[in-house]
Amino acid sequence: MRHLLSLADLSPAEFLGLLELAAYLKERWRQGVIERALAGATLAMIFEKPSLRTRLSFEVAMEQLGGRGIYIRGEEIGIGQREAIQDIARVLSRYHQGIMARVFRQQTVVDLARYGSVPVINGLSDEGHPCQVLADFLTIREHCGAVAGLTIAFIGDANNVARSLAQACILAGSRLVVASPPGYAFTEADRAAFGAQWGTAVRQLHDPAEAARGADILYTDVWTSMGQEREQAARRAAFAGFCIDERLMALAPRAKIMHCLPAHRGEEISDAALESPQSIVFDQAENRLHAQKAVLRVLLARDGAALLG
Ligand code: CP
Ligand code: NVA
Repeated sequence: MRHLLSLADLSPAEFLGLLELAAYLKERWRQGVIERALAGATLAMIFEKPSLRTRLSFEVAMEQLGGRGIYIRGEEIGIGQREAIQDIARVLSRYHQGIMARVFRQQTVVDLARYGSVPVINGLSDEGHPCQVLADFLTIREHCGAVAGLTIAFIGDANNVARSLAQACILAGSRLVVASPPGYAFTEADRAAFGAQWGTAVRQLHDPAEAARGADILYTDVWTSMGQEREQAARRAAFAGFCIDERLMALAPRAKIMHCLPAHRGEEISDAALESPQSIVFDQAENRLHAQKAVLRVLLARDGAALLG
């Protein structure tokens, strides 16, 4: 049984295979063909944090595959408080064909996978956002024609999204150049995890202009992630100048603009950048649906594993 806890769980061939399957399912959907590969299946969807895209794209994905996603508020089940995670994982596995969870700690999805007996999908944790970045690379494939050989400049916090982007660049044969203020850069643990790719496929800078110059893609995310609200004022001060705006866009005139959303217009991205013809952020948002259908098809359907070859 496979899980999707991190993009680092995938081989390059599996990552590219998921993108291929997502593109195929998207095309079939455009043609009006509905494949009900998960007829009768249910996905338990645990949310310890808010969501617009993740919740709705998983619900719609399950619906389009013939099944159903069931939303569960983290506060309601109280993982580790009302009930031990071992018990929650086992009970959910008796009702559902899969579990998707948006959690504060990566260890929570690791434990759900460890104690449960159905596939577990990370719908965002402190460490990564693999479903987002699969959708991002589907979007890059559509707009750039390939996912290899590109330079993505990530301007902002070296956070969960940045970490998954780095893992995806390593899998796809592209480069991620991250520009963050001191104190908000990739950690020693990140460097160790990136291994031999650190300094080559993944680079850390502190100057946004240096990172942006000549990039194929300018990507950003919020300065204050969910759960860090108390740090907001300090982060606003530290990230001043780390905004994707006309000044940075002029350094990468052909670059596509990406953002996982929700965006804070006027902070990490200007209105003009978000609304510019180079912005592909709403294609990213749409592709959450198609990329997740590929993930669900592979992990939850009986014939799923065979789809990646
Ligand atoms: N990008 C993303 O995961 O959006 P939500 O937080 O709205 O799910
Ligand atoms: N880094 C952000 C991503 C939101 C989709 C967060 O964790 O809040």
